[in-house]
Amino acid sequence: MNDKSYSPSSTAAWSALHSKASDTKEARITDLFATDPQRVNKFSLSVGDLFLDFSKNLVSDSVWSALLALAEQSPLESHRSAMFSGQPINNTEGRAVLHAALRAELTDAKTDEEKARITQVKEQLQAVKQASDKIRAGQWLGSTGKAITDVVNIGIGGSDLGPKLACAALEEYSHPDLNLHFISNVDGAEILTTLKKLNPETTLVALASKTFTTQETLLNAKTAIDWFKEKLGLENAQSTSHFVGLTANPDNAKAYGIPDDQILAFADWVGGRYSLWSSIGLSIAISIGFEQFEQMLAGAREMDIHFQQAPLERNMPVIMALLGIWYSNFLNIESTAVIPYCERLLLLPSYLQQLDMESNGKATQRNGEPVDYETGAILWGQTGTNGQHAFFQLLHQGTRTVPIDFIAAAKDNLSNAEHHPVLLGNMLAQSAALMTGQAAPEGQQHRFYPGNKPSNTLLLKELSPKNFGALIALYEHKVFVQGSIWNINSFDQWGVELGKKMANEFLAGDLETADFDPSTQALFAFIEENS
Ligand code: F6P
Repeated sequence: MNDKSYSPSSTAAWSALHSKASDTKEARITDLFATDPQRVNKFSLSVGDLFLDFSKNLVSDSVWSALLALAEQSPLESHRSAMFSGQPINNTEGRAVLHAALRAELTDAKTDEEKARITQVKEQLQAVKQASDKIRAGQWLGSTGKAITDVVNIGIGGSDLGPKLACAALEEYSHPDLNLHFISNVDGAEILTTLKKLNPETTLVALASKTFTTQETLLNAKTAIDWFKEKLGLENAQSTSHFVGLTANPDNAKAYGIPDDQILAFADWVGGRYSLWSSIGLSIAISIGFEQFEQMLAGAREMDIHFQQAPLERNMPVIMALLGIWYSNFLNIESTAVIPYCERLLLLPSYLQQLDMESNGKATQRNGEPVDYETGAILWGQTGTNGQHAFFQLLHQGTRTVPIDFIAAAKDNLSNAEHHPVLLGNMLAQSAALMTGQAAPEGQQHRFYPGNKPSNTLLLKELSPKNFGALIALYEHKVFVQGSIWNINSFDQWGVELGKKMANEFLAGDLETADFDPSTQALFAFIEENS
């Protein structure tokens, strides 16, 4: 089947999986363990310092073979080569998808074009190094000659979530005297409350926007510019040492007034939600230092190499993607949860929501045909043990099944010998309890735990920059594999455009309140009356 005529639902593997799904209704994960002493060995693997145990899934050997057959019958492998070699696989925008080139080494280049690309990336990352080194050394001075102590990253979506997550996750490595702040929402309370706490003389704003056109980011930037004017009498603060621009659109940043040598550029083949590896990650380099930032890139590269070279059946992103497809498309499960047992990964579910749901929340195939199957699952989550005291009741005894990714670090230098075993013990107990369940004592049906709830457990040796990089790249590639099999373009985001357009038209006065539907008109009226 060539790529143009491909649709997953027309493959032999798809039909086979549907019939296996009806047989699975009666299956129990615990029985799969009981009949196969090798199950854990077969259904687990390591990549670098990451260990994935996927044995607690509702997947028999025969289902697993059929899922692998689905991957083989899809254009996944050719699509993967197309992505890494820079073909414009983002077909609706005619763009290549090359975030992996941001973490590649020159030795990875197979062609002169690839060599030139990696050389350009290295040059752009040098600018990140220079800026972050200078700030960390106290040599980047504000307009009154004082060293920077606070960096405010203003950006949204991919220009916020990745850097914010990385800075929180890698707290152990953070500079002791520098404070990082992240402003994303157009809700004025966010930026105004943050600025109130800061000294403008020692504050640097990193204006992070791939396009440099995003409404929320530009309004927040204006508020910051006004603040510098009010507090320091600075005219056009965006043209002083208090601002840097991080963007794939240097012309727009220049037109905005950012000086040339304070614009840190990256290529437009970096998707917004894949941009933390580029100059958008400046705040990460400021927080943990450029050498550790490079370690993060090295961990991601390790996962890139694994993804390209490991056979499908031992390929971590492929395995996680196939499990998600099994639950979504064949067992009709609508959502999936990511539950890190590590408070520093609190933002991981929000980060993954953009990565996964903005990438794979699509209903049109690459060939323009509508899909006749489900695509991206609803992803949500929270850290454990906190989640145990909130939504775990539903996971254990509710009517729905939610496959879970449990994530934890085996060793945690920021914790201690009293806390860490309790944290990990809770995670292991939860995944085991969800799978095994428990019969109810006579006459006490409310104490029945049905069990048979599937989960993956992903263990990192520790939450180092390298392992964090590998973890994020793992999910990036998982999303890619699912998009390839579902035959959708994971790299555009047209779904967010209509709402943006209507908001802009309304704010520009091109749309009257009366142009809206009756419900929206009533809401406007309430706001008018009460604001
Ligand atoms: O939400 C749409 C989106 O385009 C995201 O994909 C992107 O990460 C975000 O807006 C911010 O865009 P920019 O970096 O161009 O400001």
